[in-house]
Amino acid sequence: MYRFILKVYYVLTVPISIFFILNSRSIHPAYKLTFFKKYSLGFKMFLNKFRLPSGTSYKSHLAMGLKILETPPEIEGDIVECGAWKGGSAVNLSLICKLTDRKLKIYDSFEGLPESREIDRQGFYATGDYCGTLEEVKDNIRRYGAIECCEFVKGWFDETLPQLDSPVLLAFVDVDLELSLETCVRHIWPNLVEKGYFFIDEYVGLDYCSIFWSEKYWQRYFDRTPPGLMGSGVGLPLGEYYIGPWYDNEDRPLHHPNAGAYTRKDFSGYWIHFPEN
Ligand SMILES: C[S@@+](CC[C@H](N)C(=O)[O-])C[C@H]1O[C@@H](n2cnc3c(N)ncnc32)[C@H](O)[C@@H]1O
Repeated sequence: MYRFILKVYYVLTVPISIFFILNSRSIHPAYKLTFFKKYSLGFKMFLNKFRLPSGTSYKSHLAMGLKILETPPEIEGDIVECGAWKGGSAVNLSLICKLTDRKLKIYDSFEGLPESREIDRQGFYATGDYCGTLEEVKDNIRRYGAIECCEFVKGWFDETLPQLDSPVLLAFVDVDLELSLETCVRHIWPNLVEKGYFFIDEYVGLDYCSIFWSEKYWQRYFDRTPPGLMGSGVGLPLGEYYIGPWYDNEDRPLHHPNAGAYTRKDFSGYWIHFPEN
């Protein structure tokens, strides 16, 4: 019953969501994104959610799309996705890349999640969860996205990402495990352009988000203050009802976050005021 209500809400609000999320004066005129193009893009992205299994919402894909569309074409940088599963989010990101003439680099083991280690507090996943083979992902993007914009990098992140050395405008990291997230942050962050974006999923986990607030981490590896994270714990406010916390969300079946969270290379989330000083 609740799932049905949520689905009805989700479908009825599609036109409103597309209108609000893509309503920005900063979308660059070079992309010629007319009213009709916005809707055609938004509906395509929404439909893809039904065509393919995906762990993330078309609204979070649109939010990433907005940031790419707001960036002038002369600012360099590829789009990087870490964590593809069956290609549900990659398909939609590839549509944005086609519109903006950017490259989408897709990193994944294409064998599912690695074994999680005890130190990983997100340890409730099983090895091999979310497996989509390279052929499956390519096939789905060929059918529903823009394969011509995509490059695929197969392997474990700690082996593939150290070779990343081209500028990144936006990274979408949907990798479930904390250790995988940390590998992505360490190798992608230095390649982000000056105002490059770093989006994540799994933002309902405060422990998971805490890497973006950790003074010790950012000092040690990047010699800077932590960047913080827009949407820590609850996601971006994209028209869902969600108060949290996630661990007792079953008590509020109509509450569901659907949004993603992000930070940017030039953001800072750093507390300086201590009364005793
Ligand atoms: C939840 S799925 C991604 C879902 C997808 N973004 C979507 O919206 O449908 C997580 C993905 O991360 C990949 N992954 C996680 N840790 C990895 C690692 N250390 N190396 C390579 N791939 C990894 C898994 O193979 C899996 O495809």
